[in-house]
Formats: sequence, C-alpha cells, structure tokens
Amino acid sequence: MTKTMKKKELAQLLFGKHIELFRCPLCHEGFLPDTSTGIRCQEGHHFDLARNGYLNLVTTKQNSDYDRELFQARREIFEAGVYDPLVTKLSTLISDLDFGDLTILDAGCGEGSLLFRLEKVLTQATCVGIDISKEGIRLAGAHSALIMWCVADLARLPLQDNSVDVIVNMLSPANYEEFRRILQPQGHLIKVVPGPYYLQELRERLDDVGDYSNEAVMANLEENLEITSRKRLHYQVSLPIELWSQVVKMTPLTEHRVISGNPAQQLTIDLEIVCGVLAK
Ligand SMILES: C[S@@+](CC[C@H](N)C(=O)[O-])C[C@H]1O[C@@H](n2cnc3c(N)ncnc32)[C@H](O)[C@@H]1O
Ligand SMILES: [Zn+2]
Repeated sequence: MTKTMKKKELAQLLFGKHIELFRCPLCHEGFLPDTSTGIRCQEGHHFDLARNGYLNLVTTKQNSDYDRELFQARREIFEAGVYDPLVTKLSTLISDLDFGDLTILDAGCGEGSLLFRLEKVLTQATCVGIDISKEGIRLAGAHSALIMWCVADLARLPLQDNSVDVIVNMLSPANYEEFRRILQPQGHLIKVVPGPYYLQELRERLDDVGDYSNEAVMANLEENLEITSRKRLHYQVSLPIELWSQVVKMTPLTEHRVISGNPAQQLTIDLEIVCGVLAK
C-alpha cells in the first residue's frame, strides 16, 4: 500500500484481502471477492465503501445517544493518554493469549481510538472495528486505513461463524449469542466494564447520579463466560483544566444534567477487565 493511495482504495484492498471473514447481514451469504464497486454479497445485496474507507452495513437510520461531539471528546481523552494503562493491559493480555496471526473485533468501537492503539502494538493482527454509529465510524475511518471499520449492529454482526480469535468489548453493549457464533472455539472475549469509582469526579458533580454498580452486568457476564482472568484496573490521572470540558462531553451521563462545582484536577479510571471463553 502506498501513501498516495486514497483511503477508499486502501479499504478496497484491505476488505478484498479479508473478504472471507465477512457475511451479508441481510441474507448471511458471503461477499464476492471483487470490491472495486463496493461490497456485494452472493445474493446481490450491495453496501457502499465510504470515501474515508469504512463499510456501511446498516440499511436503516439509527438513533443514538452518541453524537460527533461526544466521539470527538473521547478521542481527545484517549490522545491525552487517559486510557494508556488500559491499552497496555489489553495488548499484553491479547499477546499472552498466543494466537499468532490473529483476528480481533472491537465490538462497539466508537471512534476507534482503542483499536487504533492496539493495532499499532499487535502488528500481526487483522483488525475489524464495528459500531452502529456512523458518526463514530466516520471518525474511526479518518484514523487508520489499516483497520476494517464497519457501521453495523452487534445484533447482526456481518462476520462469518468461527471467524474471530478475540473480541474486545469496551464500555459497550454485548450480544453474547452473536459473539459466540463468530468466535472460533478457542476464541476469547475481553470485556471492559466500569468499576464503582469510574469517572468518580464527574459523577460527584452531577445532581441525581448515585454510585455505579456493575453487579448486573457482571452477573450476566458470568452466566455467559467461562472466565479465565478478571483484573481490576484502578488509577487516577491528573487533568489539565482544558481537558475537563472533554470529560464532560465524552459520556451520555452528563446529557440533560446540571454539573456543579469546579473542574476536577484529577480523574479516576476504575475498570474491570474480564477475559474468557464463551461456552458454545
Ligand atoms: C460508551 S461507547 C464506547 C465506545 C468505545 N468502546 C470507547 O470506549 O470509546 C458505547 C458504544 O456502543 C455503541 N453501540 C451501542 N449499541 C450498539 C449496537 N447495537 N451495535 C453496535 N454498536 C453499538 C455506541 O454507538 C457507542 O459507540
Ligand atoms: Zn445478502
């Protein structure tokens, strides 16, 4: 791939190379290898590759709590290094799974910052980022041409059965039935769930927001996953004053709520990283 190639041409090459991973979300047939005029399944359903290189597999308009401003704020928070310890933990965890040339799906990748960083470290990996938000995926497409970005629904993943080695699912909804279908039998799910102190400084400044409990999410996870490791990642980062407004914008928690007090000078990141195999 050369630097002078356009994003869309790079995406045509990349999707063409890995087209056997994908299936049509409408009829479940595979896609044809020729990606020169978009992506077409064996039944003739056609999906566009956008100019900045992402594939749009959603045919109906979606309503979302997440808009461009929120995704832009998340990107700036990632760029400020707030999630760097998480990226390091996840890349080590994935390397230690020892899959070699592996295929990773970031399910609910948002604007793509996490997968962008993982791909830089796990250079042998084939990476797919999926989110239902076009705004998120549009920003992700601007990020990296080395990742296959798709607008798609977790409930109808456009991936073949047993096609993925690792699913990363950070602060996003899960669809265990679909995850089970697309993971190969030894494949692993890594779910990142907020802990009780996640964004504590923000929660304290919101009127009607109490302590967060991840018990329901964890109980559901435990029902579905044979857990092989569960780690808590709890740290504080200091926050330059100009980043506070991005913290406020990066979560739907603050929508329609009054924020009181001064900007916080530090931010707590409290996450549980749960890894395991989904019983077939
Ligand atoms: C809190 S954001 C997390 C985004 C990203 N993982 C991150 O940590 O920056 C939750 C994401 O889940 C996505 N999402 C929600 N429902 C979805 C669905 N049914 N299919 C795909 N993505 C979905 C949203 O669009 C949003 O980008
Ligand atoms: Zn089709």
